[in-house]
Amino acid sequence: MKTLTEHWDEIFHNTEHQQLGWYEKNFSQTLKFLDQIPDWENKTLFVPGIGTSGLLDVLLGANAKLVLNDLSPKAIEKAKLRHPDAENRVHWICQDISQPLPIEPDSIDIWLDRAVLHFLTDPSSIRGYFQNLKTTLKKGGYAVFAEFSKTGATKCAGLNVKQYDAQDLHVELSTFKLIQSEDYIYVNPKGDDRPYIYALFQENDS
Ligand SMILES: C[S@@+](CC[C@H](N)C(=O)[O-])C[C@H]1O[C@@H](n2cnc3c(N)ncnc32)[C@H](O)[C@@H]1O
Repeated sequence: MKTLTEHWDEIFHNTEHQQLGWYEKNFSQTLKFLDQIPDWENKTLFVPGIGTSGLLDVLLGANAKLVLNDLSPKAIEKAKLRHPDAENRVHWICQDISQPLPIEPDSIDIWLDRAVLHFLTDPSSIRGYFQNLKTTLKKGGYAVFAEFSKTGATKCAGLNVKQYDAQDLHVELSTFKLIQSEDYIYVNPKGDDRPYIYALFQENDS
């Protein structure tokens, strides 16, 4: 049986970037949420499971400090090949996001997840994910999520997923303030609708 890393490596090895079922070329929905965070372009962002996303191009275009994660070495290799010049601007962390992160506590301003949390289906992995988020985020820091909604897909990349609404996310982040949430229909490269929930939270620093 394949490990999770082998599963994702195989996908990134066998599939062209633009054919991936979650490929985006327009990041306006993510930017709509990021733009609500004051001065986000100059903050430190942590992106779990960034894969080969073109979001990296957008983030490199800003002045942001980037801490980027994926459990697939192949995805990271491909992302690095697209941006050989970015090596000194990005801190890469290749590991399962549900395991403790090797970064300083209270060092991240913004946690930005698209289509990663929903792959964690067992309670201990979900606990580990949110433990990482809460430990590494600074007081008053922000978290942006884009996950399959309750009307969304139940499987992706051959794996089961957990569907979310804003309330489910708020249960995990009960000490955070929900600033905004919105349903959004992403259309995948095959032309199929994939309903997502987008949500922005802020840690209460009082
Ligand atoms: C559906 S893709 C989304 C990629 C990217 N966030 C985007 O929006 O294009 C899911 C990504 O999460 C990574 N991933 C899956 N499970 C993970 C885990 N437990 N820890 C870290 N990364 C994971 C995969 O390798 C893949 O790059």
